[in-house]
Amino acid sequence: MEQHRSHNPNPSHQNRPSAYKREREDNGRNHCENKHSRPNRPQNQSGPSRGQNPHSSLSLSTRRELYERDFPVYKQPVEVGCFSLDSERRFFNDGRQMRYYVEPDRSPNFDLRDGYKDRFIKRDDSVKEKLDHMLRWILANRSKLSARGTTASSCDLDIDFVTWRGHLTKLLTAPYETREGWQLAVTRFRGTLYISEVETEAARRDQENRTERHEEMMYWGYKFEQYTCADTVHGRPDPGGVLNTNEAFCTVVQTRLADHRLLFSGEVDCRDKDPNAPAPPACYIELKTSAEICTPKQRSNFHRFKLLKWWAQSFLPGVPRVMAGFRDEEGVVVAVETFPISKISHLIKNEHNCWKPTVCMNFCSDFLSFVKHIATEDNPSVVYLLSWEPRRDVTFSVHRDSPYCFLPHWFVEEMTSSQPSHQS
Ligand code: A3P
Ligand code: MG
Repeated sequence: MEQHRSHNPNPSHQNRPSAYKREREDNGRNHCENKHSRPNRPQNQSGPSRGQNPHSSLSLSTRRELYERDFPVYKQPVEVGCFSLDSERRFFNDGRQMRYYVEPDRSPNFDLRDGYKDRFIKRDDSVKEKLDHMLRWILANRSKLSARGTTASSCDLDIDFVTWRGHLTKLLTAPYETREGWQLAVTRFRGTLYISEVETEAARRDQENRTERHEEMMYWGYKFEQYTCADTVHGRPDPGGVLNTNEAFCTVVQTRLADHRLLFSGEVDCRDKDPNAPAPPACYIELKTSAEICTPKQRSNFHRFKLLKWWAQSFLPGVPRVMAGFRDEEGVVVAVETFPISKISHLIKNEHNCWKPTVCMNFCSDFLSFVKHIATEDNPSVVYLLSWEPRRDVTFSVHRDSPYCFLPHWFVEEMTSSQPSHQS
């Protein structure tokens, strides 16, 4: 399979194990004594004595300079399926919510405030869905994922990690994040590690204290989607209709980062309607809005902060382009511009001390190695909670039969009791 090498001028390192992996192999010989000085690996900070949980003092640094290695192997993501969530957030194992991109004029004057008061049904974000939709998709498509060949495999799904794309985006951007921390719950079940976000106290407070202006601005991004997407391949956008943020089309992709086999899902805004467009995910288009850029300082901030998030979100599932609508203070889109994901790293080259794709991917890879190393007990009621705050290391705690448990009984039971039904 093709690999993403656009950020990587020298392909000769592609199969080099990460620093953490080499360290782990060394540790295997040394019975996990932490006597190495390399900082970008799990570190023993306080030196546990025998008999204590040796993991309780392990941590992982997010310092950028530790991840400035060659770009890791990242296989071209392959779409293995999709699912849809309807206006009432019901799951369907199909692409019924797919939308088709309709190119706007160069200065479209879309009013993003239109309909906020009277034609908006907002998803209830107090309902924490955790991984449930992905788990439903896995049960419905298990035969596509099961380990082939012998029964000797301990990994039922042939996958190391199952998660949402959004959680991986947070990992990619962590070395550059200065404001928002995160908590990720991890459970090992039948050889696969499931990663699900836990809302932090700070995020819960921020959500409760949002201003009316902020609430409205969150609507603007969805409204831009309504102006630029049609429900059918030959249809037109319907900006006069009701906007319901329960509806979603999600792709499910499989890929590999270094030696981590990943299965993740992410919401896709729309696709190219050209029948000759490449197969998914290469035909998908991410839609974004951003404040119009009027000064060099604003351009620099756009490169340093916004393009990092846009790049990480779309690079992960192999979505090749972002269509951006630039809006004025009143929420009117005054310009649109396409950003090919493969060009973003060139765009930011002239920014001093800017983010680097290789740092993002190497941190993510080392984080996943760290998770494999610490989350050893295969048990659906055990959660390893990984916590991170900017300017700190990633730390973790272990919880049994706690409110952090996130694999539902219906999933555990079905995975344990039955063989996958073989679908064609
Ligand atoms: P913008 O991206 O244009 O800001 P996505 O771009 O990921 O498809 O999300 C669609 C829209 O949802 C966003 O449009 C924004 O309006 C809203 N949104 C998504 N995540 C958000 C967040 N963490 N905070 C505020 N708004 C968010
Ligand atoms: Mg979008």
